[in-house]
Amino acid sequence: MEQTLTPTTCWSTEAFRRHGELVLRLLSDFVETSRRGDGKVARLEDVGALIRSLGIEDLIAEGGVSDAQFEKLVRGFLDGATRLQHPGYMAHQIALPHYGAALADLIAGVLNNGMSVYEMGPTAGAIEVAMIDWMLSKVGWQPTGRDPDRPPAPGAAGGGVLTNGGSLANLTALLAARAAIAPEAWERGTPSDLVLLASGSAHYSVARAAAILGLGTQALVKVPCDAFGRLLPEALPAVVERVGAEGRRVLAVCANACATATGLYDPLAEVGAFCRERGLWFHVDGAHGASVLIHPTESRRLAGVELADSLVWDAHKLLQTSALCTAVLFRDGATLGRAFRQDAVYVTEGHRETGVDFIEQQFECTKTPLGLKLLLTLAFVGEAGMAANIEAVFGLAGRVHDQISRREGFETLCPPESNILCFRYAGDDAIQSRIRQELMRRGDFLVTQADVAGRRWLRLTLMNPLTDEATIDRLLETIESLGRDLERDRAPAGSA
Ligand SMILES: Cc1ncc(COP(=O)(O)O)c(C=O)c1O
Repeated sequence: MEQTLTPTTCWSTEAFRRHGELVLRLLSDFVETSRRGDGKVARLEDVGALIRSLGIEDLIAEGGVSDAQFEKLVRGFLDGATRLQHPGYMAHQIALPHYGAALADLIAGVLNNGMSVYEMGPTAGAIEVAMIDWMLSKVGWQPTGRDPDRPPAPGAAGGGVLTNGGSLANLTALLAARAAIAPEAWERGTPSDLVLLASGSAHYSVARAAAILGLGTQALVKVPCDAFGRLLPEALPAVVERVGAEGRRVLAVCANACATATGLYDPLAEVGAFCRERGLWFHVDGAHGASVLIHPTESRRLAGVELADSLVWDAHKLLQTSALCTAVLFRDGATLGRAFRQDAVYVTEGHRETGVDFIEQQFECTKTPLGLKLLLTLAFVGEAGMAANIEAVFGLAGRVHDQISRREGFETLCPPESNILCFRYAGDDAIQSRIRQELMRRGDFLVTQADVAGRRWLRLTLMNPLTDEATIDRLLETIESLGRDLERDRAPAGSA
């Protein structure tokens, strides 16, 4: 009997090709125009206006989109999207992805291999094993042993898994830390005497993890820092002694590599040595900055990371993959094995023997093949290309810092150690926020803000090597003129 293909069950591969080609063409135009600096970096229109201009209600009600409607929708979506490839984009820590990673997203979307168990994506599983082993090798840790051709040294297998973002990865690392100090916690709950030591500049996901673990955010004990929020290792002994005297135990010491707000690295070697001496779990949040491990000289910023028990490393920040693609890595792979104690039927049915099921190592049940994004990006640009990109944006940050410092009326927080830097225009904290809001409203530049050392700063994350000194000059001129206008509007009537 002849079967009819219905659009709901068996979509037309011919239409897929046609629509796919259109999407590739429109995306290529989007990237080219953005790189030229055409259009706005971001247009923050009203949500309701956007919903209506995209025709969302009609599309839901009618289905069966025509080619013309499809093109209108994609064009409308791109028109209102934030352009990371635009030289005026200097805001959040998210990569301008290589198209290799974007193609991986497309492949993953069509295959839908929810690869947490090996049978649901053997190629995806194998790639994840290879990517984790590659990242472990960059840290100086042993491979997982899941690839039989890359055996670890006896008793020293590393561990790791790819997961959906640095926040989830921090939680995963701290779950492993909890399993190490309180093995009964999975069944009985988290003991209330545990505390987390971190600097005040730890990413908010560390406090979230404390809350989710049932410790509460008050279990986060702040370690004294220098004027820029870098953890002071010499302060650790007193903090640990105080906590011990209060009858509390240290779940983990968390260090930044680097800090979200400032882009500054904590002294990992000193913190690591202290933790090893005291037998404390040492967690390094390298979501942003661990990527320097692939750079021949910038890797010095992570000296001592090999002393850590766990490390978070986002590829979607400085390794040019699309979001999300995070690794959470462990010096001792067995510690990750104890973080999630699920006796799921998938596992009990014998998959454990394959050594490449991820269910017991990750939060997710179904998981997209995150490793493919990283592998395809590496395959196109190589480690050397990724390192060159890091060098470009780190070098740019240094030059931009000098450019801003030379300009009258501006102040920088400190020389950057990464591609993140903070600066202020003359005036109080409120002026900085008003300047940022006005920049966003105009849409030619996108920057963020941060509170550091008790003051508000404008903050740049230089992700785009096309942002050059001329772009920064235009940004600073715009800020000067906005700052003058804002001060004038504030001045009482009649004053000069
Ligand atoms: C230091 C640090 N940790 C964790 C995160 C969270 O990562 P994600 O956005 O991938 O969840 C960030 C994000 O900016 C970060 O800078």
